[in-house]
Amino acid sequence: MTKEEFEKRARAARRAFRRTPVYNDVTDYIKEIKDEVKVIKERDPAAKSNAEVLLSYSGLHAMMAYRVAHRLHGSGHTLSARLISQGAKFFTGIEIHPGATIGKGLFIDHGSGVVIGETSEIGDNCTIYQGVTLGGTGKHTGKRHPTLGNNVMVGAGAKVLGPFKVGDNTKIAAGAVVLEEIPEDSTAVGIPARVVRVAGQRVEDLDQCNVPDPVEAEICRLRREVEKLKEQLSEINK
Ligand SMILES: CC(C)(COP(=O)(O)OP(=O)(O)OC[C@H]1O[C@@H](n2cnc3c(N)ncnc32)[C@H](O)[C@@H]1OP(=O)(O)O)[C@@H](O)C(=O)NCCC(=O)NCCS
Repeated sequence: MTKEEFEKRARAARRAFRRTPVYNDVTDYIKEIKDEVKVIKERDPAAKSNAEVLLSYSGLHAMMAYRVAHRLHGSGHTLSARLISQGAKFFTGIEIHPGATIGKGLFIDHGSGVVIGETSEIGDNCTIYQGVTLGGTGKHTGKRHPTLGNNVMVGAGAKVLGPFKVGDNTKIAAGAVVLEEIPEDSTAVGIPARVVRVAGQRVEDLDQCNVPDPVEAEICRLRREVEKLKEQLSEINK
């Protein structure tokens, strides 16, 4: 075969490869990983170069494995998908079920001890720290795990348990245990988690009487009583 013939055939093979679904999968995969490297550099001041992120961020390695495993899972190769996921867990300490649905730009910082369950859904540009569980309570079948909106931050060690939604731009504090839906633009802290900020405002400063929770309503009433008593006391002391 002449050199020209060889080059012609190679060009034809490249063109044919570009028309296959595998080519699209590979280019999408590379794009996803590039985006994840970019977000890590944006969000972690400790990340100094692309090479450092690619070689030393276990959250990125877990996501690289997940992106392959998720594709296999979607095409019915569930066993090989699970094997990849378990291999990644062995090397990174991060367990992401291949069936989970994860958007663009997820940053898993530090990573060890992170568990993301099968029916979890994660929106775009979320950040998850070490020790986070997106899990089930054991009470549900079918959809058992939470859905995180876009730009959600889940602090170190937080547990988000059950098939409810965590709204966009929400922060879950380190160590919180979230057992019910959290509205968007809020901060939830504690065990069980309660919303302490909405759109940057402390919940105490909001109109609490419209909160449908009877315990919250009772706390609201008691707080007003205390405020009234404080006022009366300061009048007496004048
Ligand atoms: C919750 C968090 C995101 C701050 O969010 P924020 O909207 O700025 O909220 P604030 O700091 O104003 O805190 C609001 C209230 O929650 C309390 N709070 C904050 N973090 C808390 C936590 N982890 N557990 C319990 N209460 C917490 C604050 O003391 C404050 O209470 P106050 O209103 O009585 O003063 C932050 O404290 C946090 O937990 N980040 C996690 C970071 C992380 O995991 N890092 C790991 C790096 S390795």
